[in-house]
Amino acid sequence: MRLVIVSNRLPFTARAENGQLQFQTSAGGLVSGLSTYLDSLRDATPLQQAHLWVGWPGVTIPPALQRELGRRARREFSAYPVYLDEATMDRFYHGFCNRTLWPLFHYFPALASFEEDDWRTYQHVNQVFCDHLRKILQPDDVVWIHDYHLMLLPRLLKQQFPTLPIGFFLHIPFPSFEILRQMPGAWREALLTGLLGADLVGFHLPDYATHFLSAAREFLGWKERRGIVQTPTHAAHIGAFPMGIDYEKFSRAAASAETAQAGGELRRALQNARIILSVDRLDYAKGILNRLRGLEVFLEKNPAWHGRVVLCLVVVPSRIGVPKYRETKREIDERVGEINGKFGSMTWTPILYQYNFLPFHQLVALYRLADLALVTPLRDGMNLVAKEYVATRTDQTGVLILSELAGAAKELRDALIINPNDTETLAQTLRAALEMPPREQRRRMRAMQKRLAQYTVVHWAQDFLRVLRAG
Ligand code: UDP
Ligand code: G6P
Repeated sequence: MRLVIVSNRLPFTARAENGQLQFQTSAGGLVSGLSTYLDSLRDATPLQQAHLWVGWPGVTIPPALQRELGRRARREFSAYPVYLDEATMDRFYHGFCNRTLWPLFHYFPALASFEEDDWRTYQHVNQVFCDHLRKILQPDDVVWIHDYHLMLLPRLLKQQFPTLPIGFFLHIPFPSFEILRQMPGAWREALLTGLLGADLVGFHLPDYATHFLSAAREFLGWKERRGIVQTPTHAAHIGAFPMGIDYEKFSRAAASAETAQAGGELRRALQNARIILSVDRLDYAKGILNRLRGLEVFLEKNPAWHGRVVLCLVVVPSRIGVPKYRETKREIDERVGEINGKFGSMTWTPILYQYNFLPFHQLVALYRLADLALVTPLRDGMNLVAKEYVATRTDQTGVLILSELAGAAKELRDALIINPNDTETLAQTLRAALEMPPREQRRRMRAMQKRLAQYTVVHWAQDFLRVLRAG
């Protein structure tokens, strides 16, 4: 059996520089989760399980470099790149995916645009993926499609390969059907029937699965029995599979020499200040501006903490071709400048700000140094950063402040759970976290670590694939 993973984002993002190809690790939870799972297959099985990862290489690749990229993708990443031209990518990725689906599914309907041309391109790109898969699929393959970019693909594939096991996992929230009602009827029906082309449709949370089933009932009139929707062609199973992390990898890395080196440099730069950590892709849904407001109120009300605490703000560049992301970046830059200007001095800068992707050991070093992690999305399908922070706290100190609107809050009940729109409480919680006695820190960390060590990303993938194969 070969596992064929299909997602818009590949584990690498290619760049063509002076006619030379460069590869960078792609950002985001989908890539980090699936890459970890595939690594575990390589390490654990002597007879490696064969797999192929089909997706877009992140940029438009000039035709002269496509053959070389195809060869290297295959050899170095077991990947098969799907090339798309600039105009198509613009309407598909910046358009329907990230100006329609992303805001709508994250409960920002006012930001969603409904452009007929974007929708047509979305249909076209899903068909392009299907055409490539038709050429490469083999009879024993199991296909696992990921995320909102490819919601039409399960049905397109099912029509071509009626007996092939097809799974789909949505990495973002599935919203209430009333949100979906904002979308033209023909589009939402196509998206729902598209997803129901899969034999198994998975979500992070039972709530998302429930929303999906209500939407299928409301807009298609298709009913569910015991988590199964009987479609005209097959039974589609619907389930919740909360994605975990590689707990061992993070707790081991916390003690590694590379982490110690990266951490030592940082510790010297930060002197003795207590450290609050914030790490996300640039995204309005991550609530970065809300957390900056919370910090500002905390500093206003707690002058005794001036000079003694630093926010390390890491923002990873993302989707900068979408206007709302550019606007969010501008607002973050301005707010950081304002807060540093308002409270900072010659000897203390309250916010240290980096707009860049952090490689693994530097990220773990920051997790290790941080006395508390501030994770305040306005909406997030899961949020792996929160889980990773907990996994690296091997001495069980540290405090996680987590938004109730992140999927991870359903599992990490021992975090300090806040609402990111409640600035006063956020400011008070920051103080409570900085002053939390070590005993309580340890009690909370222990409980969260227990859960994360039990249900890892490998369990997540194995569970999903087991249910898919059991069909
Ligand atoms: N990440 C990283 N370097 C960074 C920031 C994030 O490697 O500088 C990784 C992080 O370890 C996590 C993923 O990116 O696994 C982000 O996943 P999450 O679910 O938190 O958010 P997403 O970006 O998928 O919305
Ligand atoms: C989220 C999405 C993923 C996506 C990632 C990074 O995690 O669920 O599908 O890959 O963000 O976003 P990008 O637009 O760079 O792929």
